[in-house]
Amino acid sequence: RLFECIRMLPDAGVCVFKFSITRDTECCRVATRSFLITLGCFSIIMRFSTQSEFEIFHRMLCSWHELRRPQSVFQQRTDDSSALQYFQFYGCLSQQQNMLQDYLRTATYQKAILLNDVDFRDKVVLDVGCGTGILSFFAVQAGAKKVYAVEGSSVAKYAEILVKSNNLSNKITVLSGKIEEVCCPEKVDVIISEPIGYMLLNERMLESYLHAKKWLKPKGMMFPTQSDIHLAPFTDEQLYMEHHARSHFWNQRCFYGVNLSGLHSSALDEFFKQPIVDTFDMQVLMARSVKYTINFLEAKEEDLHRLEIPFVFKLLQSGLIHGLAFWFDVAFVGSRMTVWLSTAPNEPLTHWYQVRCLLQTPLFAKMGQTLSGRVHLIANKRQSYDIHITAVVDQSGFKSGNSLDLKNPFFRASSSGLSLSSPRQSSTSTLVLLLPSHHSSTDPPVDAPTYPHL
Ligand SMILES: C[S@@+](CC[C@H](N)C(=O)[O-])C[C@H]1O[C@@H](n2cnc3c(N)ncnc32)[C@H](O)[C@@H]1O
Repeated sequence: RLFECIRMLPDAGVCVFKFSITRDTECCRVATRSFLITLGCFSIIMRFSTQSEFEIFHRMLCSWHELRRPQSVFQQRTDDSSALQYFQFYGCLSQQQNMLQDYLRTATYQKAILLNDVDFRDKVVLDVGCGTGILSFFAVQAGAKKVYAVEGSSVAKYAEILVKSNNLSNKITVLSGKIEEVCCPEKVDVIISEPIGYMLLNERMLESYLHAKKWLKPKGMMFPTQSDIHLAPFTDEQLYMEHHARSHFWNQRCFYGVNLSGLHSSALDEFFKQPIVDTFDMQVLMARSVKYTINFLEAKEEDLHRLEIPFVFKLLQSGLIHGLAFWFDVAFVGSRMTVWLSTAPNEPLTHWYQVRCLLQTPLFAKMGQTLSGRVHLIANKRQSYDIHITAVVDQSGFKSGNSLDLKNPFFRASSSGLSLSSPRQSSTSTLVLLLPSHHSSTDPPVDAPTYPHL
């Protein structure tokens, strides 16, 4: 297919040579200001008189090249600006450190892998989004024969340094690139990954994890193996009032002499679109949670493009329902045992906290009545989800709902002084929190931090 046509015109404007760049055209840079272009059975060298002319031409060629290359699954589902920001975030060692220092997260992964060492011994493993390579090291500790550690951000170079300095170059191969775009040299027995964002789904990395199954042998294993999203109605008058109070700023009629009140309702709308990332006392929950399971061995990437979670809650107390609370558990189903990593509000806190979505208007319901409805989660190109909630108290017919943007959560944990670890990847990285004590693999797990609020 013809993509572009290049005409070389000398000053007089006469075309002296004309050729086409096609899908098969081979070209490469020669020295600092020249290109070698192969056209069928002959080649030409184009030498540019200035560096800037060369660069203009180079950029042009690169953009044509981009056009020629089919987009990967990742590129198709992600805005360039989102991907850039995302991989810049994970390229920082400080962000990797935040995750490594989430003791419950890292220790549970190690435990799940080491307790199921039979699933790793002499096996070939694929680590999807290896970061610094920590899970690959755990796989080797469990006896893996070979680990391919794929990383899309520039942190891949640090993983490589750790592999070398731990003398594991013969066991761990770091593949720099996105899982959707790299070529794994062989099929694998086990895929390991930590692809979990807020509310489980934020970041849309679970899709990359599922995509990696193209490299999995039949009957291969996935660590983690499944996840349960839990949701339950909550009552929290203070939280609701706080959200309103935040918007009062925009009620000012003389802010440095300017009337801001024309923006009050827009500000309120914006704040109500923000899922709230923090933790809470179990007592705010008004019913037993409803569970939605995703089995990573069975699910396909497309299954995560739109999720619909129907619910019917039987209320255990009377009062105002202000919204729905979400958390998740993931399970590592090994041959020896199943290990769970839980982010439930009655478990020790993790850097995922819990997430709450307010209803536009609270709903009054009595004990024994039922709240039914559904949550729609629709994936967007910003590596996140649009959340739509509809709910009705069946006995009274009172209805409410809300639409929220998971990409832009409100980190209430920080404003309330609650401290655990820095935020997970999101567009608003405003949370700077204290870290729990860091454990090396030799630390006894008994000194896990305790949190007085739980
Ligand atoms: C949550 S971190 C986990 C890092 C490490 N596995 C750990 O447990 O500490 C996720 C990592 O996956 C990488 N990642 C995300 N999407 C990816 C993709 N499609 N291909 C390759 N790496 C990806 C990110 O850059 C990030 O370093």
